[in-house]
Amino acid sequence: MSNQREQWGSKLGFILAASGSAVGIGNIWKYPHMAGQNGGAAFTMVYLVCILVVGLSIVIAEFVIGRKTQLSPVGAFETLAPKSSWKWLGFLGVASAFVILSFYGVVGGWILKYIFISLSGGFHSLANNPDAAEKLFGGFVSLTWSPVFFQIIFMVICIYVIVNGVKEGIERWSKIMMPLIIVLLIVLAIRGLTLPNGVEGLKFLFQPKFEDLTASSVVLALGHSFFTLSLGMGTMITYGSYLDRKQNLLSSALWVIALDTAIAMLAGIAIFTTVFALNADPAGGAGLIFFILPSVFPQLVGGAIWGTLFFILLFMAALTSAISILEVVTAYFIDQKGWSRKKATIQFGAVITIVGVFCSLSMGGGINLTEFFGISFFDFMDYLSSKYMLPIGGLLTALFILKKWGVNNFMDELKKGMDKSKLSKELITVLFGIAAAVVGFIIISEILEVVFGITLIQ
Ligand code: PFF
Repeated sequence: MSNQREQWGSKLGFILAASGSAVGIGNIWKYPHMAGQNGGAAFTMVYLVCILVVGLSIVIAEFVIGRKTQLSPVGAFETLAPKSSWKWLGFLGVASAFVILSFYGVVGGWILKYIFISLSGGFHSLANNPDAAEKLFGGFVSLTWSPVFFQIIFMVICIYVIVNGVKEGIERWSKIMMPLIIVLLIVLAIRGLTLPNGVEGLKFLFQPKFEDLTASSVVLALGHSFFTLSLGMGTMITYGSYLDRKQNLLSSALWVIALDTAIAMLAGIAIFTTVFALNADPAGGAGLIFFILPSVFPQLVGGAIWGTLFFILLFMAALTSAISILEVVTAYFIDQKGWSRKKATIQFGAVITIVGVFCSLSMGGGINLTEFFGISFFDFMDYLSSKYMLPIGGLLTALFILKKWGVNNFMDELKKGMDKSKLSKELITVLFGIAAAVVGFIIISEILEVVFGITLIQ
């Protein structure tokens, strides 16, 4: 076992790596669509409250637990609560990493393929023809070999970055990719805003439409705040474990949240100004990214360039997130089993890739996994993680601090690296209490609905 734990090289590097984890496919395809469909600015306001009350508390909780123990989730909970069952919360995180990365890697592969399609002028024949774009996408994802090939390349790149270590791999690449993501998004947003009618997209995204905001939009906003901030599976515990005691964890958490939110908004502006300028359908999900945009870009002057830049940006966002997911697994085998970084990353990167192959094939390209609990294996892995595993992980983390470790111990660690702290024990207790109550209620209502068909939230 290596006795010298790796550390981040700088505060900036840590913030860029943690926000690189947060900024991912979730920001670029999930948020803009959700906001547009669920009341625009009205949804954004609810989302911001969720991020600030629930999200911020759990980001700080994870950073504090990681830095205190200098260990990844399983070891961290074992150290703070020896001989208890809390270590299973750490194992839940490792399991969530397997589940999320298996389908995330598949989407990473699709994005990679779309960079090549755009570069070779392949969107040209899709101009103003979303049906043709949908056919192209549907045809590609339901193939057997090609999506798997691109998924493997995506995963190999991810493994390569991690094998190079915390400072020389994760931090180095985050420092290159995060600024590029921001610059590219600003360029694309300006491009969209300067198109005739582009401003209509801003209205779609930012005009408050309270009539579209339902109770289930609130649930959506909460669930998304976990996914987008990479919470509930120990990613931020693992990244926090590479920190020294000089860092101000509150300001770091605020930076991560601010960058994640700003990038989600910028993505919304870039996408909807372009979609509205060209009178396309602001449909959501995978459709918006993989059929609407490819039919919109070729209508712009220099369309192949804009399309390629967009998919490169999406690729980098997906990669910095995927890295953070795999690092949870790698760190577990380094910390708990004494494996080398190289061995842990390559072996478990390969295992996750194999599970991912089943996700890919469940899109229609091979084995019959299209009917797994009524949905495809791919969707099953997505729902399982974002609806249950991450919120349950977040809820238990809040309860761990309130009930097991204690708010006093938590505050002692949080205050290290902070010059003057106005945070009181009462405020922290209330924040964790609210986070636990809200998330607990949502999880129970979800389980009641799925298992017993009882609807608490309309
Ligand atoms: N935050 C990432 C996104 O918004 O796409 C997804 C994610 C990354 C979830 C890392 C969980 C995680 F641990």
